[in-house]
Amino acid sequence: MENEWLAVAVENELSPGQMKRITAGNKRLLLCNADDSYYVVDEMCSHEDYSLFLGCIQDGRIKCSLHGSYFDLKSGAPETEPANQPICTYPVKKEGGQIWVLPRKQE
Ligand code: FES
Repeated sequence: MENEWLAVAVENELSPGQMKRITAGNKRLLLCNADDSYYVVDEMCSHEDYSLFLGCIQDGRIKCSLHGSYFDLKSGAPETEPANQPICTYPVKKEGGQIWVLPRKQE
């Protein structure tokens, strides 16, 4: 399952700044459109068990709305405290008019 690409959205489904909750390989993930670049990251914040879906996307980063940490959407690295652990990121591709995710941690 972790080695299979899964179609999770049609290409124009999300506007820039929008995100979508997806389930892939038993993981709860977020598909994010940041200025028409797509990223997939863990849904839950690494600081506490809080959904990043309730936050927002700004300048290639996702903000947790509970305590305000920002995470880089490409690397998952936390950019501001209080979070000090990364969130996982996952490979994404566009193909055949759809967005696909490989539900395996990005190396
Ligand atoms: S729960 Fe996300 S920064 Fe605290």
